[in-house]
Amino acid sequence: MRRILHISDVHFGPPHLPEVAAGVLRLVEDRQPDFVALSGDLTQRAKPHQFREARSWVDSIQVPTVTVPGNHDVPLYRFWERFLQPYGAYRRNFAADLEPVYRDDELLAVGVNTAYGWTFTGGRIRLSRLLELAELVAAAPKHLFKVVIAHHHVIPPPNFGTQRVLINAYEAVDLFSEAGVDLVLSGHHHQAYIGSSEEFYPKGRAPVVILHSGTTTSSRGRGGERDKNSCNWIEVEEQSMVVSHLRWHPELRRFAEHSRHLYPRQRRDPYTLEGLPVDGSATVPPAAESAD
Ligand SMILES: [Fe+2]
Ligand SMILES: [Fe+2]
Repeated sequence: MRRILHISDVHFGPPHLPEVAAGVLRLVEDRQPDFVALSGDLTQRAKPHQFREARSWVDSIQVPTVTVPGNHDVPLYRFWERFLQPYGAYRRNFAADLEPVYRDDELLAVGVNTAYGWTFTGGRIRLSRLLELAELVAAAPKHLFKVVIAHHHVIPPPNFGTQRVLINAYEAVDLFSEAGVDLVLSGHHHQAYIGSSEEFYPKGRAPVVILHSGTTTSSRGRGGERDKNSCNWIEVEEQSMVVSHLRWHPELRRFAEHSRHLYPRQRRDPYTLEGLPVDGSATVPPAAESAD
């Protein structure tokens, strides 16, 4: 069994809510997840001191963490920095690795940077990176539960009909599905929602569950989560996965379950990614350096 706490959009800076952030630490202490996935937008304006505050807070989480950058972690107004070193402040003040990997004997979690280059708000996954990711996942032992963590969304939120999805979202979901990804964790929209690859891009395959967290510790909630804070609790069993949306209750000063979703664990046939070995013996290539 594996237990994951998924948080997102903590936005250190003016919108950050320290009391809720303290509540996240208590939640981790109480529930002891195997790891915490933090799907980007650590800061509000990618300022060094905001990254340092985020780093300090993440360091106080007493379990492993897997963090990817979001669009707010690239400078918006510092144009030269944005152009020449968009991830410089992130790397210097938070973490050198933009795409960390977590693995144990039951689970593989892979971070992917979608706050690509000097993009303003939309995200993108490069096709070459997608193929590397798919290869990495497909080469892992079949019994592992496979998670991809990305800031931007591959499916739109239910009440934002005109919102565009991540560039190459369709290709991403197609490859994730083919490679055997079980779960995609994202943020960015500041509201929680859940769907599957087969609802949005039907291919007649085992569905990939696509899960979004609202903003966990900022005042920037949107849609149905305006002025609200949320995160996700995931329990992976041998036969099933249970996802709970958790909401912050200011009067209780804690997160509590808001909804619960049950999915069967999929038993996929051996993958058939073109050109890839199918015996799990592939040598995983190092992640390509993201442009910065
Ligand atoms: Fe955000
Ligand atoms: Fe974002």
